[in-house]
Amino acid sequence: MEALIDIRKISKTYTTGSFKVEALKKVSLRINAGEMVSLVGPSGSGKSTLLHIMGFLDRPDEGEYYFAGHPTASLGEGQLAAIRSRMVGFIFQSFHLLKRTTAKDNVMLPMVYSGLGTDSHKALERLRLVGLADRVTHKSNELSGGQCQRVAIARALVNDPLIVLADEPTGNLDARSREEVMGVIKDLNARGLTVVIVTHDEEVSAQTRRVVRMKDGEICSDELRPPLPGAAAGPEVTPGAGAHELSGRMGGAARLPKARLGFTPSEIGEQFKVAFKAIWNHKMRSALTVLGIFIGVGAIISLMTISEGFMKSLLSGATEDDAKKVWVMPRHEHLKASRRLTYADVEAIKSGAPLAEKVTPIVTGSAQASSGGRHVDADIQSREGYTLEAQKSKKDIFENRKLQGRFFTPGENLSRARVAVINQTLAKSLFGSESAVNSEMRLKDITFTIVGVAEDHQAEQIFGGRPTVYIPLNTASKRVFGSTRLDYVEVTAPTPADAPEARRQIILALRKEHGLREDKDDDFEVKTFEAQIELFKTKMGQLSLVVYGIAGISLLVGGIGIMNIMLVSVTERTREIGLRKALGAKNSDILSQFLIEAVVLCLIGGAMGIGLGVGLGWVMYFFIKVPPTLGAGTITFAFTFSSLIGISFGFWPALRAAMLDPIEALRYE
Ligand SMILES: Nc1ncnc2c1ncn2[C@@H]1O[C@H](COP(=O)(O)OP(=O)(O)OP(=O)(O)O)[C@@H](O)[C@H]1O
Ligand SMILES: [Mg+2]
Repeated sequence: MEALIDIRKISKTYTTGSFKVEALKKVSLRINAGEMVSLVGPSGSGKSTLLHIMGFLDRPDEGEYYFAGHPTASLGEGQLAAIRSRMVGFIFQSFHLLKRTTAKDNVMLPMVYSGLGTDSHKALERLRLVGLADRVTHKSNELSGGQCQRVAIARALVNDPLIVLADEPTGNLDARSREEVMGVIKDLNARGLTVVIVTHDEEVSAQTRRVVRMKDGEICSDELRPPLPGAAAGPEVTPGAGAHELSGRMGGAARLPKARLGFTPSEIGEQFKVAFKAIWNHKMRSALTVLGIFIGVGAIISLMTISEGFMKSLLSGATEDDAKKVWVMPRHEHLKASRRLTYADVEAIKSGAPLAEKVTPIVTGSAQASSGGRHVDADIQSREGYTLEAQKSKKDIFENRKLQGRFFTPGENLSRARVAVINQTLAKSLFGSESAVNSEMRLKDITFTIVGVAEDHQAEQIFGGRPTVYIPLNTASKRVFGSTRLDYVEVTAPTPADAPEARRQIILALRKEHGLREDKDDDFEVKTFEAQIELFKTKMGQLSLVVYGIAGISLLVGGIGIMNIMLVSVTERTREIGLRKALGAKNSDILSQFLIEAVVLCLIGGAMGIGLGVGLGWVMYFFIKVPPTLGAGTITFAFTFSSLIGISFGFWPALRAAMLDPIEALRYE
């Protein structure tokens, strides 16, 4: 018959400094399925070491270990984890329950790592079996020592192991609890489960049929006693289904479970639960940790929302009419125009550029506007005017802006009429809440009649409206400024697509008009709307570089903070990590658990950073009048970015956690 456990001449030596301890010296031991064996001996005789090796928590230095007929020396980490999870139930002397966790959740834990899904009915059934049906929702700190040990037994049984290995399960208990726990263990054995108990206690070993005695790392005796009366109770329920499975396969060998890859939903759920719990249990620490991420992401997001808002209001203010426009202006060198534009240039564009559908010369300047004792410095802009028919047909004829009253006409332009259209900002400053239409206003000692009030231009709404007066072009150049100079010329192409070609024609026409030789540069500038947007984008890009630099430093510091705190967290939870591994967690389970914690931390920082960014955007709103825009792209960017920081800075601490040795981790003080 194949023994369940077949240990052949195994040795284990511990080295502390130059001092060597031979914990096991060529120990051989066979245990058959269904046996109940107690392992006794003085302290330091190697009992725990042997039990850990049997339970795949530790490996021998020498010798062979056959489990259910299989050699185990070549098994990889993943498969060892699967065996710990599905075939071995380990009971520790000091219980090792998860802190602040209910009895039920403690019992459920091995199922999380079994890959078979969690089943709370099974957990409740195991708790009932150890007599704790009425303590299911009690947390580990609300249970007595004996009750904790019984929870640990229920936990060891929940994945239907082939064998239960108990290291001094009664060591911490009083006489009554000891009897309770031994009762449960004997009962399990009576139902077919193989049990090995390490104990100091002769009263405990007296209750087992086989007693193996150890001394100084060697087995010194192995006695089999006649059956104890009442020990062979018939099976009622089948907690150790695995044991029965094995007894059914006694002739051959039980198959070892394969290493599990990937994660089950219950595992991922557990990992997130643990991450949130860890963060929540250290609120202040977590908050300080994410500060760097918070500021870094906040800076980036505020920049993104503000510039996105800018683009949006620029583009929403822009219409097809804007996109059709081409502006011709003098070239400025050292803040001085190199050559002024003239009416001759206007004629040259009209005759030389067929795509220039409409050519509007514009004169601008500034002057004090006064009315009834109020004086306001205003910008002066000029237009050629729109016919009354055109104004009637299209209500918003004037650059898409709502107009009270009317706009002046081309006729008024030709007759240099003293009529003006003012914007709302100026109307408010001069006339308050009274209607400005048909009122009079003085500009450079000339009295103008206000025929219309236009709402502020989109761009003015953004940068804060400036008081502006629109007067006929001829009135401006002949009466107000007294010269024939032009500030710029606005050309309209038939469609937005024609604008670049119109620009080319204008350049050629003006070069010819100015008599420029081929090797000379243009002494004027021609810009399309698209080029303006591009220019804005470049300017914004330069600003962004500075902000990204600052944010980058903040994120780097934040990332290092995350790494630091994760290292602390791993150290603090070393025993928990050891426990999880002992219960069947693979290295990758532990790795991902800590990675998720780091990522969740960063995501919290990132989410708060989005809040900060939008908040800053709204603060900026008071200065630049652009509402911040939070696009889906920005949010995705922030979260992806935060996750990447979490993964890159959390990886090393998580790897350290994953590589911990289960037994060393459990022993960690
Ligand atoms: N991690 C370790 N590093 C160094 N020495 C160790 C380590 N673990 C165990 N030992 C030594 O190995 C020997 C056997 O230890 P083990 O824990 O197996 O004893 P034990 O029989 O379980 O004792 P006890 O009854 O006190 O629990 C002891 O001398 C111990 O000091
Ligand atoms: Mg021990």
